[in-house]
Amino acid sequence: MSADDDARRLQAANPTGWFEDLYAAADAGTASVPWDVPHPQAHLVEWANGLDGTGRSALVVGCGFGRDAEFLASRGFDVTAFDVSPTAIAAVQARHPGSAVSYVVADLLNPPAEWHRAFDLVVENMTVQALPPALHAGAARKVAALTGGTLLVLAVARDEGPEPDGPPWPLTPAEVGAFAADGLTERSIARDNGRWVAEFARQVAMN
Ligand SMILES: C[S@@+](CC[C@H](N)C(=O)[O-])C[C@H]1O[C@@H](n2cnc3c(N)ncnc32)[C@H](O)[C@@H]1O
Repeated sequence: MSADDDARRLQAANPTGWFEDLYAAADAGTASVPWDVPHPQAHLVEWANGLDGTGRSALVVGCGFGRDAEFLASRGFDVTAFDVSPTAIAAVQARHPGSAVSYVVADLLNPPAEWHRAFDLVVENMTVQALPPALHAGAARKVAALTGGTLLVLAVARDEGPEPDGPPWPLTPAEVGAFAADGLTERSIARDNGRWVAEFARQVAMN
């Protein structure tokens, strides 16, 4: 059985709590996590080319095993990374015992109030697409509301049309456009190799 099969089986059994179930099963050696890859997302590395995060804060949404969070910390950002799964957060802390990243258990759909527009950079890589489509627009608004400066959204792309069997549920053009919420404006949306690379920014008032 593939890692994608493991995710679909656990999602069908527990539609909202399956992330924790998957990480716990992986911990027990009875399942594999499809996104457990040992390198940061290639589009993030490309986007961050030459970027110096020194003196800036970053938030990584649905951080899983921390590949993007560790990458941003290596670029000098002061990184907070969160996941709804306590087992994922325990696992990432065990994998990176000396990490400068602050790993936190938190729910994107009910985030800590003090995170509101608090981060210079927010990176959302494949969290919203892991949720059922009915939740996409609301989750996108939550991501936008955490962004103080720039938001980078990375996701698998699909065209408008009938919902696929998920997980995952790749994002349509309208769904990726919906991150332009809570005062964010679209800077660029590109579709590359079947994936969205979308950047949004908050216009900071001059007075
Ligand atoms: C497809 S995985 C991507 C993980 C990571 N971004 C990566 O690319 O390696 C989606 C992640 O989002 C987390 N997640 C799902 N719903 C969440 C929520 N409501 N709040 C925070 N994290 C959530 C899952 O536990 C999982 O780790």
